[in-house]
Amino acid sequence: MTAKVLSFLNFKGGVGKTSTTALVGYNLAKMGYKVLTIDFDPQANLTSLYLKTKSKVSNDEVITISTSLMSAINDGKDLKDITIDVTDNLALIPNAVDFSMYTRFLDRTYTTELEKVEFFSKKIESLKSDYDFIFIDVPPTISLSNDTAFYACDQIIVVLQTQERSLSGAEVLISYLQETLINEFKSKVDVMGILPVLSKRNAAVDDEILRSAAATFGEHNIFENKITIMERIKRMDMTGITDSPKDTWDKKVHSAFENVSKEILKRLDD
Ligand SMILES: Nc1ncnc2c1ncn2[C@@H]1O[C@H](COP(=O)(O)OP(=O)(O)O)[C@@H](O)[C@H]1O
Ligand SMILES: [Mg+2]
Repeated sequence: MTAKVLSFLNFKGGVGKTSTTALVGYNLAKMGYKVLTIDFDPQANLTSLYLKTKSKVSNDEVITISTSLMSAINDGKDLKDITIDVTDNLALIPNAVDFSMYTRFLDRTYTTELEKVEFFSKKIESLKSDYDFIFIDVPPTISLSNDTAFYACDQIIVVLQTQERSLSGAEVLISYLQETLINEFKSKVDVMGILPVLSKRNAAVDDEILRSAAATFGEHNIFENKITIMERIKRMDMTGITDSPKDTWDKKVHSAFENVSKEILKRLDD
């Protein structure tokens, strides 16, 4: 087994990157794939969501993290030692606020830009044989820190909110990846496609943006399975991921993300 490394990307906060990472990871794990998710954001939203999910699964036991990603990196620890099992087949490398020191760690430890950018890719190499998928959930910044995450990726999925200006944002991002990571650092990373998150409040604007996106990036680069706004996802921030087979809203959420997961599998095959 050699894990595929993926990341959802958008340089705006609050577009649903973390929720998408969490729910795609959760559904791939449910389908039987071995999934590791790495929280790469010092705000630790993914860590918080998954720890709530784990606490629910293990009868409301309170889960605390003993070692953060930053301290593991500082101490030269194997990342295997800090993974937490969330559910069957689903593991998490947690983050915490001390990760804001990561760039300083890179600057202190390495001299060349390439050495810095390559660091995280090398750090996760030994984990790849244990998983089918590794997802890295990054904060919304253009930064050296994120460059090290994207450099470690095989595929990037651009999350596109169907709002004005998000399209030009996506164009800027894709050319940034191309110029910086691919041309300058010779990364092998590829853009798998664009996953639309629809507003639904204004279907005409959604359609318009989807049409321009198809014209700009090519129809085949837009995911067929789209995410819509679902209030249940917001509730999961508080409750952790809920998945009751009798609950219509839970079923809706998981069916949407199962379809996105299947499309990711299909796109990896092609
Ligand atoms: N499809 C969705 N429908 C409704 N709310 C969503 C959806 N995706 C994310 N959210 C909510 O929007 C907020 C921001 O989402 P998050 O995944 O943290 O975004 P990001 O990681 O891009 O900053 C969270 O409160 C989350 O629960
Ligand atoms: Mg986030």
